[in-house]
Amino acid sequence: MKIAVIGTGYVGLVTGVSLSEIGHDVVCIDVNKEKVAKMQKGISPIYEPGLSELMTKNIAAQRLSFTSDHRKGLQQADVIYIAVGTPENADGSAELSFVVQAAENIVDCIEKDVIVVTKSTVPVGTNDMIKGIIQSQLTSDLKVEVVSNPEFLKEGSAIHDSFHGDRIVIGADSEHAFNVIEKINQPFNVPIFKTDIKSAEMIKYASNAFLATKISFINEISNICELLGANIENVSTGMGLDQRIGSQFLKAGIGYGGSCFPKDTKALIQIAGNVAYEFELLKGVVNVNKKQQGLIIRKLNDCLPNLTGKKIAVLGLAFKPNTDDLRESASILVTDELIKQGAEVVAYDPIAMDNAKNVLNSSVRYADSIAEAIENSDAALILTDWDEIKNVELSVFNKMKTPLVIDGRNCFLVKDMETHGIEYRSIGRPVAAKQIEVTPI
Ligand SMILES: NC(=O)c1ccc[n+]([C@@H]2O[C@H](COP(=O)([O-])OP(=O)(O)OC[C@H]3O[C@@H](n4cnc5c(N)ncnc54)[C@H](O)[C@@H]3O)[C@@H](O)[C@H]2O)c1
Repeated sequence: MKIAVIGTGYVGLVTGVSLSEIGHDVVCIDVNKEKVAKMQKGISPIYEPGLSELMTKNIAAQRLSFTSDHRKGLQQADVIYIAVGTPENADGSAELSFVVQAAENIVDCIEKDVIVVTKSTVPVGTNDMIKGIIQSQLTSDLKVEVVSNPEFLKEGSAIHDSFHGDRIVIGADSEHAFNVIEKINQPFNVPIFKTDIKSAEMIKYASNAFLATKISFINEISNICELLGANIENVSTGMGLDQRIGSQFLKAGIGYGGSCFPKDTKALIQIAGNVAYEFELLKGVVNVNKKQQGLIIRKLNDCLPNLTGKKIAVLGLAFKPNTDDLRESASILVTDELIKQGAEVVAYDPIAMDNAKNVLNSSVRYADSIAEAIENSDAALILTDWDEIKNVELSVFNKMKTPLVIDGRNCFLVKDMETHGIEYRSIGRPVAAKQIEVTPI
């Protein structure tokens, strides 16, 4: 069985590498020649724990290769995965031009019957559209089947998730397609759920929208906790003990970011809107998240209303720990606003700084360590809960001009910050005010 994967982003590369690891013969295709050249040398273009090791191993075993030549990659494939991006259009709907392009690449290059498997997150009905494009443009009588196989990996633990996922969803309309894709995936030893194509497409959006809803819900509760003097961490723990609720995705913070939740929630609102259904709950989720992303600046302005000439350290730039991805990260909005208010911004992230330099405002300066970033600063903002940040010696904050820490991810215990004399404002928890030393008379 020869497998081709179109698109080698966070999903395509992890898919290709994981399928080769379970023994399949895989070729990954990308239009980005620079990326392909790197991957051919065994260098991963993205940071994902465990990915480089598996890449090197499977390239050496000659089960994994990379090309930017669609014909070379596709002509002999039995199964072709589409894993190209589906970013957001200006109106929030999913931009499908990369998917259409991939379908056209398939038409141009295949020389045998194939099953096309859509991994990209696509609106309900898109697999029918892909099938339509291929069937209407094919000049030969090759048989092409289309399967929806949405991806549920989490950036930062994508390799682990491929081998320990909760489920693999296969949406198909023929026994043959079900059987082939089930057989390919069996070695992962992850439960397989078989369904119709449209339901498979909807499962992906509904799952992401539900998780985003949990996050916006707990963030709203945390804001109310602050006003009432309750502690969100105790509330989340108490809620999470109820198995009907579950403890995951109940961590309050400054909102969700990344390449999926923001765009998928908005796309689902559009998908519903297209059939004249107003998804009111999800609109609320999106609005709450937007508001929550600005919370850290509001908290900073409560302490420092005038940021002109103030040095502000920003710790953590990736949208979450263990990834170098900055797509829709709070760091974009926060650093823009700090600069707009006249602050001098010094940023640090353990992994994402190279990407940040291409994304963030060019006035942002970068430090090589937490200590360097906060030295002589007027405030430190924590945007990503990297282990390196959570485990930092708290005495490091004494290097600041004034030890004021505003933590968007609740990385530290309030009482520990209080003991260290740090003014500490976090999310949904009491404020640790700086201990004022009283000089004896
Ligand atoms: N990133 C995630 O955590 C995640 C998780 C689950 C699902 N998804 C979904 O998976 C899809 C891919 O996401 P991603 O984050 O991997 O995207 P990405 O933008 O990181 O990667 C897409 C890749 O496809 C390549 N490409 C585009 N058109 C091509 C073509 N015609 N031929 C060959 N290569 C082409 C691009 O050069 C790029 O390298 C999206 O639909 C996304 O919503 C992403």
